Amino acid sequence: MRKTIIAVVAALMLAMAACSGGDRDPTTTTIADRTGDPVRGFELYRGGCIVCHGEGGVGIEGLGKSWIGTTFINESTDEELIAFLLVGRPTDDPLNTTGVDMLPKGGNNALTEDDLRDLVAFMRTLNL
Ligand code: HEC
Repeated sequence: MRKTIIAVVAALMLAMAACSGGDRDPTTTTIADRTGDPVRGFELYRGGCIVCHGEGGVGIEGLGKSWIGTTFINESTDEELIAFLLVGRPTDDPLNTTGVDMLPKGGNNALTEDDLRDLVAFMRTLNL
């Protein structure tokens, strides 16, 4: 009986070691390892970006550009889009097409890089 218990405990410990990802150290996990969550991104979108980019990302004239089918979004990687969101696109940027500022993080400095990753994941759902 005692041997059985020891065997079960040993098996459990082995299983736990396997689940922890082997030799991967969780403390070194970078933000890039995290997959964006589009549902959370949608919530963040509604909380900030929607006032300029409109319902469904179709844009609002004079406020924010449409996201639908833009080559900028479609041809950028997630990392490039996050880098873009960190700085925005002011009117004096030659790439600005509307004459209206896109502020860093859409003007919401509280957004973390994880938040931006979720926003990008949501953005992708609009640009299939
Ligand atoms: C105050 C209005 C405003 C808010 C709020 C805003 N944006 Fe923008 N955004 C703009 C404008 C204006 C542009 C277009 C700039 C230009 O002319 O290139 C833009 C452009 C963009 C683009 C580039 C689109 C393209 O195809 O070039 C992305 C991506 C974007 N915004 C994401 C966001 C996200 C994500 C949020 C919320 C965190 C956000 N924006 C909030 C005004 C806004």
